[in-house]
Amino acid sequence: MAEKKENKEKTIEEKIKEQNIKKVAVFTSGGDAPGMNACIRAVVRTCSYHGVQIKGIMRGYAGIIDGDFKNMTPRSVSNIIQRGGTILKSARSEEFKTKEGMEQAYFNLKAERIEGVIAIGGDGTFRGAYEFSQKYDIPFIGVPGTIDNDMFGTDFTIGYDTALNTVVECIDKIRDTAHAHDRLFFIEVMGRDAGFIALYSGIASGAEAILIPETETNIDNLVESLDYGWRRKKTSSIVLVAEGEEVGGAIEIAKMVKERMNGRYDIRVTILGHIQRGGAPTCNDRVLASRLGVRATEALLAGERNIMAGMINNKIVFTDFVKATKHNTEINRDLLRISEILSY
Ligand code: F6P
Repeated sequence: MAEKKENKEKTIEEKIKEQNIKKVAVFTSGGDAPGMNACIRAVVRTCSYHGVQIKGIMRGYAGIIDGDFKNMTPRSVSNIIQRGGTILKSARSEEFKTKEGMEQAYFNLKAERIEGVIAIGGDGTFRGAYEFSQKYDIPFIGVPGTIDNDMFGTDFTIGYDTALNTVVECIDKIRDTAHAHDRLFFIEVMGRDAGFIALYSGIASGAEAILIPETETNIDNLVESLDYGWRRKKTSSIVLVAEGEEVGGAIEIAKMVKERMNGRYDIRVTILGHIQRGGAPTCNDRVLASRLGVRATEALLAGERNIMAGMINNKIVFTDFVKATKHNTEINRDLLRISEILSY
């Protein structure tokens, strides 16, 4: 009986008590994403729930180097769950990549008696955390926050759903003009290395073609399929171009198509840009951010280190930083086929 009790897996509360961590910190880094505030709120309140002090670090890694820390309480994160951007601000720090920058960061964290850090950001953020963990003894836990959805170890990143909804709303509006004027629009959406935004929003808005970095783009084939649409009485079309498309951005591709089109379509280009990064997070992003924030914080307090919290098949999973940043997230090929069939 006594042996059975010893083998019993400890509860999260027991593990947290055993670690007895007194103070941790949270920051946001890389491109801001809607839902980051909801995640900060979850981290701060989870710490308070477990009786742990929490500091907010301003401007990501840059703020660690500058010692820009502020006290956070459950009340300092009131009324932010619905706000886009990040109350802790965000930055991409080149200095943190240097030996001196990391040393200074470690010095400041130690001086503040920070025993662990929650990093909310994308792959650049976790690469930084991994490098730091190779040299210093302060554990990091990551939460994926980027509109690009390009992280291995989670089905969705915080901000992706909101960005998709923004993009779809914009495309719907452009579609009105495309239809009214019989035009061909090239719309460029974000996604430096990945086509997730383009693929999902393209299906949702009925785009005639979707060009993404994960697939090979052939301009002659694109012209042929637009031509085919023209012959079947399609008077307007929308081509979605992911920012990271290897052949070029929407402007270059529109130019190449125009040269081959013999004036058959009146062509216009729209680059959606940073409008995709702002705005109130959707319900899905708020819930995702809240769930990941709570579980990442509890993992940190329970003694876990250098892993990213993600959600796969509606379950929280943890992936180590190396895997999360080095593995490429595969695009779902079935979605490409679906978009092709539905644009017929
Ligand atoms: O990583 C998110 C992202 O929005 C990318 O899609 C885009 O390429 C990049 O950030 C833009 O970054 P910045 O705001 O620094 O120009």
